[in-house]
Amino acid sequence: MPSGLNVVILAAGQGKRMRSRVPKVLQPLGGKALIEHVIAAARTLKPASICVVYGHGGEQVPQSLRTDGLTFVKQQPQLGTGHALAQALPRLEAAGLTLVLYGDVPLIGEETLAAMIAGGGDRLTLLTAELDEPAGYGRIVRNRRGSITSIVEEKDASATERGIREINSGIMALPTARLEGWLAKLTNRNAQREYYLTDVVPLALADKVAVATVKAAQWEILGVNSKQQLAQLERIYQGQQAVRLMEAGVTLADPARIDVRGSLVCGADVRIDVNCVFEGEVRLADRVEIGANCVLKDAAVGPGTRIEPFTSVDGAKIGANCRIGPYARIRPETRLAEEVHIGNFVEVKASEIGAGSKANHLAYIGDAAVGRDVNVGAGTITCNYDGGAKHRTVIEDDVFIGSDTMLVAPVIVRRGATIGAGSTITKEAPAGELTVARAKQVTVPGWKRPKKAVKGDE
Ligand code: UD1
Ligand code: CA
Repeated sequence: MPSGLNVVILAAGQGKRMRSRVPKVLQPLGGKALIEHVIAAARTLKPASICVVYGHGGEQVPQSLRTDGLTFVKQQPQLGTGHALAQALPRLEAAGLTLVLYGDVPLIGEETLAAMIAGGGDRLTLLTAELDEPAGYGRIVRNRRGSITSIVEEKDASATERGIREINSGIMALPTARLEGWLAKLTNRNAQREYYLTDVVPLALADKVAVATVKAAQWEILGVNSKQQLAQLERIYQGQQAVRLMEAGVTLADPARIDVRGSLVCGADVRIDVNCVFEGEVRLADRVEIGANCVLKDAAVGPGTRIEPFTSVDGAKIGANCRIGPYARIRPETRLAEEVHIGNFVEVKASEIGAGSKANHLAYIGDAAVGRDVNVGAGTITCNYDGGAKHRTVIEDDVFIGSDTMLVAPVIVRRGATIGAGSTITKEAPAGELTVARAKQVTVPGWKRPKKAVKGDE
């Protein structure tokens, strides 16, 4: 890569049409801010510096971005794209190229950016695209020989110029040494009274600097100005994630019904049914199957495990060959060993569960250490909270917990113990024994149920 590459990301605009207090470039796409996609693409070029020009929304932009390797300059007021780039001038390394990106154009591809700077040297490179509906964009004006003469903004364009289908994406690479001179010459004598960066084209030509173009795919240069456009870009982005997964061998029941808001890494022969959402960092090992309507966040799932429909997993590590759900809720700091079964309406929080253990129906396991081959009956609850603090429940290997058991923590159930159904366990249950803690069943001989009064009997 050329030395001394500067990247400047323009992000000072208001984005009025978003109707949001959150600055436009911080709106999420695929679970991360629009501008973070741009920064990630820029980083692939290994630039000497990345400078973000912000303005609208105050300090929210610099505050919410990880600042390592980024510099920020405030543009106040916002007097146009040329004025925006001028604010960044003092932060730029003098040699090489300056690549201008837009914080609200998030799908820009790495290869396209690499092509923009590949020419290097003393030239102006514009990223353009051919659009069937060019309305709203600046148009690329060429002479009869096909050379670029200027960029004309829609609001300044003649009827003929508006007919031009080649548009300016706004992304361009400029020779840094020329910038100061060119930007000083920009004026705001135009329909919008703005300092247009696009006016550097005639200045470059006057300086005998070559003006080149790189053609982008239509989707790459799409910007976000409204919630509708944000939703359109989200679908394009999710479509790309689906393609990437299928290319890696993942079977998707429907590529149009999966959302990846973060990173999803899959092993071989993973199958994902419809309407699943993956957030944060999710890893699915070989042969994992995810049923319909599951949400997995920051989770690792071991090989051969099946997550049945309508299951929520958040912040958990699940071992090999487990069966989870349907309708299970696995919460943060949960560790499941291999061959664990967690069934319907079972909630597990901050607990380790050993190999081969089962909680198949209607249970709450929180702040617990559960051993191997334990059977937790339906309706079992670890009463971990006393209103002030959380306490731990320990259930050792080979324990059988009868249905509807309350385990009042802190409490220990020793190895091989059996707890009778309906027990409320408040003290240690000894190893290998049956412990029952419930009122004894009594039968009252001769008891008669009171009779209903019959009308007119009184
Ligand atoms: C600009 C281009 C136009 C191009 C279009 C592509 C100019 C004069 N026009 O027009 O040729 O087709 O983008 O979308 O460059 N920004 C600032 N400070 C400002 C003004 C803008 O940081 O003072 C930022 C915005 O946040 C945005 C980008 O620059 O990220 C483009 O601004 P926008 O107002 O959308 O430019 P357009 O008028 O659409
Ligand atoms: Ca725009």
